[in-house]
Amino acid sequence: MATDAGDPIPRFPDGFLWGVSTSAHQIEGAADARERSVWDVFTAEPGRVKDGSTAAVACDHYHRYPEDVALLAGLGVGAYRFSVSWPRVNSPGGLDFYDRLTDELCAAGVRPVPTLFHWDLPVSLEEAGGWLTRDTAARFADHVSVVAERLGDRVTKWITLNEPAEHTLLGHALGAHAPGRRLLFDALPVAHHQLLAHGLAVRALRAAGADDIGIANSHGPTWPASGEPADLEAAGFYDVLLNRLFAEPVILGEYPDGMGELMPGDDIPADLEVIAEPVDWYGINYYAPTRVGAPDGTDSEYGGLALPAELPFSVREIEGRATTDFGWPVVPEALTELLTGFRDRYGDKLPPIVITENGCSYEGLDDQDRIAYLDGHLRALHTALEAGVDVRGYFVWSLMDNFEWAEGYARRFGLVHVDYTTLERTPKASYHWFRDMLRNQG
Ligand code: BGC
Ligand code: BGC
Repeated sequence: MATDAGDPIPRFPDGFLWGVSTSAHQIEGAADARERSVWDVFTAEPGRVKDGSTAAVACDHYHRYPEDVALLAGLGVGAYRFSVSWPRVNSPGGLDFYDRLTDELCAAGVRPVPTLFHWDLPVSLEEAGGWLTRDTAARFADHVSVVAERLGDRVTKWITLNEPAEHTLLGHALGAHAPGRRLLFDALPVAHHQLLAHGLAVRALRAAGADDIGIANSHGPTWPASGEPADLEAAGFYDVLLNRLFAEPVILGEYPDGMGELMPGDDIPADLEVIAEPVDWYGINYYAPTRVGAPDGTDSEYGGLALPAELPFSVREIEGRATTDFGWPVVPEALTELLTGFRDRYGDKLPPIVITENGCSYEGLDDQDRIAYLDGHLRALHTALEAGVDVRGYFVWSLMDNFEWAEGYARRFGLVHVDYTTLERTPKASYHWFRDMLRNQG
């Protein structure tokens, strides 16, 4: 991969927020100290998780959080993005954990940045219809108020939802993630109800006095497989589904290309007003671009994901690129393209951007490939800033190796290695590299 590795990373503006991310279900463990979530049910079903594992213990962060906060402090990050487990908050004493974690972070000088939903819906709500039901959005707003009431004296920066696109697509359309529904296009209400939940959450946070709120949406450039009309059409449709369907209601207050007519509810314009409740910044999780062509009549496999032939697009290989252990292509300059593309598409409607996730899966403690990935993406990010895109922060996915959903423990995204037998944490070469980079930034 072409990088200027070796040269220092260019300087980012003063006040730029550096952090790392995790999520509750992927690291906490202590499953006995919370209600069950859809992921507990899903992982208990044979064949759902590739290595047959569950997150009942995971990294045992619930018990080992002081050690993990010490690792954050040693890294020198300004902020830590974690998620608050709704099933834990519903359980006696559950909020106390986030109280302790918040105190520990504040004492270490690391800013807590909680995400209020990262895919672990309480089973009780799933049984009542989950995200297919409008009421779940209202219930989410109640959950947000409870958390904000408790942590709002110390937490000032908030994230409503993580990747409603992936949760719709993987969890409800393709059945590759919990709750394992395979509804294909009948999953669209899940998108609308999560977006509504986001807007209601922004209102609930404002009511609790918050003034620094964003969402973490996953985005990536869509590259047509060729200039043929059928490929252009398929790629355009994929771009609507993965990017525009989730960005435009939030940023513009509208659904793209008549998608609004497919959404459930009596008054979509009124819902869009809620969804477009202004945010203070817009979070982007970026991993890779996707090359998309017309359907080719066969089932295909992409980055661990089975794509059925009946989809109106097919995902094609991006040739000539290194791939991560997950099979995702490494294309740093596509991050610049993504950000300048957002700026060009949404102009002055685009809020300041924070990269809320970026990272890669590789084995090994001497993870030079991860260093090259992060190095390349930070340079690409800097290029976007130089091109005038207002980016305010960058979070690496992830602080430590963790439960990678349907892949189980087989994919290692961490700057810190976790031995799942002893639960010992060992900083990798990339941890030291990122720490030194932060020191150079001053
Ligand atoms: C992941 C996304 C990623 C995409 C492209 C998906 O399976 O969930 O986060 O951006 O693949 O590599
Ligand atoms: C998710 C994370 C996940 C990461 C790598 C994102 O899609 O928010 O939970 O671990 O990508 O796949």
